[in-house]
Amino acid sequence: MIDVQNLSKSYSGHRAIQNLTFEVRKGEIVGLLGPNGAGKSTTMRILSGYLPPTDGKVTIAGFDVVTESLEVRKRIGYMPEKVPMYPDMRVNEFLRFRAELKKIPSRRIRARMDAVKQLCQLGDLERTIIGTLSKGTQQRVALADALIHEPELLILDEPTAGFDPTQIRAARELVKELSSHHTILLSTHILSEVEMLCTRVIIINRGRIEKADTPQNLTRMVRGGHYLKLEVKAAKEALISKLEAVKEVEDVEAIPHEEGWCTVRVYSAPGVDVRDNIFQTILKEQWQLREMTTVRATLEEAFVELTQD
Ligand SMILES: Nc1ncnc2c1ncn2[C@@H]1O[C@H](COP(=O)(O)OP(=O)(O)OP(=O)(O)O)[C@@H](O)[C@H]1O
Ligand SMILES: [Mg+2]
Repeated sequence: MIDVQNLSKSYSGHRAIQNLTFEVRKGEIVGLLGPNGAGKSTTMRILSGYLPPTDGKVTIAGFDVVTESLEVRKRIGYMPEKVPMYPDMRVNEFLRFRAELKKIPSRRIRARMDAVKQLCQLGDLERTIIGTLSKGTQQRVALADALIHEPELLILDEPTAGFDPTQIRAARELVKELSSHHTILLSTHILSEVEMLCTRVIIINRGRIEKADTPQNLTRMVRGGHYLKLEVKAAKEALISKLEAVKEVEDVEAIPHEEGWCTVRVYSAPGVDVRDNIFQTILKEQWQLREMTTVRATLEEAFVELTQD
């Protein structure tokens, strides 16, 4: 659906993105992540045909974003970071205006307006002046605009910026719903959202791709980010020697605390489950056990590790 080859963009000599190559396949929900100034918005504006690249080639559904931008725009619903709104228009007026601009046949406009108002929960607000709406609600109007021409591909630049926690949860449900009919590329700083929603993540840093992988694989790469945490009543030395001898265990740390209890971390290779073997050893040694949990790194930890210097 999206094919990006060696894409670069400079703003009067300043390199915002350099040599990006990636693809997004039909049906994927891909998160574009990166620190402030990494080049996320620049990339999304080029993909949407609103900003010419300095170098490289982008095709959307087979159409070149530079030479066939009209074909591209028909297929994309783009929600920019700073939403250019018409603060004096009413919600209904704005959506009609946008539908006409996007050349939706007039007999279809009414139905499309109703559909997007329902999806974005704007039904009660159709006569409200946009400028009086809260930031989060204005974002929903912008999303309704991005959806009105039924695009195959949605490009959403920080769609939940300005949302409160309840709205963020609602937006997550909405994006999930949309993903059954649309391919989605979104940028956000809310990493828990990405973990729950995205099939794949592209992390960019200073204009270059740092990593592109599934959220699961990214979190697996975090150093020391995956271990088994135990609370066992036993001497530290005995714990370390017995548990390190367990099959497939790579490392054991133990910190003694009150009344003979130790907090233990058991490390093993990613994807290896040592819980049964650990439990058998504890039984055999007749140690008391009061906790066993798997601790996994979060995407936030992966992000920090990949983007810090
Ligand atoms: N119109 C512009 N003119 C000059 N420089 C720009 C322009 N837009 C962006 N830049 C620069 O390009 C780089 C990438 O900016 P961009 O807005 O793409 O980052 P971003 O990843 O979207 O950041 P954020 O998380 O803050 O939204 C930054 O160094 C920024 O200052
Ligand atoms: Mg941005």
